[in-house]
Amino acid sequence: MAVRKGHTHDRRILVLHGPNLNLLGEREPEIYGRVTLHQIDAELRRLGEELGAAVDTFQSNSEGALVDRIQAARGQYQALVINPAAYTHTSVAIRDAIQMLGIPVVEVHLSNVYRREPFRHHSTIADVVDGRIMGFGPNSYYLALRAAAALAGARGEEQ
Ligand code: DQA
Repeated sequence: MAVRKGHTHDRRILVLHGPNLNLLGEREPEIYGRVTLHQIDAELRRLGEELGAAVDTFQSNSEGALVDRIQAARGQYQALVINPAAYTHTSVAIRDAIQMLGIPVVEVHLSNVYRREPFRHHSTIADVVDGRIMGFGPNSYYLALRAAAALAGARGEEQ
């Protein structure tokens, strides 16, 4: 039997990670650091508890799987945090799915994409999200979750 903490969450927040982020920790650590995705997800769930939000996380290397998750989030979550990774720069499908979603969305990147190659400077979703946080490594995700919780009106995070 699972031990329940005895409190309910006001809000549900979905965190989506795009391609290659499953290899965080091993992948170009000079850019992305040594923290693994597993560790980031665990901290997101813990921080969610603190903020009164139940956090679900999902990673996929496939664009369609991410679109499916965004579509399925409708009516189920009060905010979305998304790092589309390389699809940030290419995906009209993810942009269209976000545009239909109708809940607050925060775009997140570990690295400051503007300090990197020019092809990373364009985001297909930048103008359809509520805000963007980048450049702080794993802290980008934690700041994004705080912003998403505030937008979702989670306990203690009202704006
Ligand atoms: C990234 C930046 C993207 O340009 C890159 O393709 C990624 C990760 C980031 O979190 O810094 O895979 O989204």
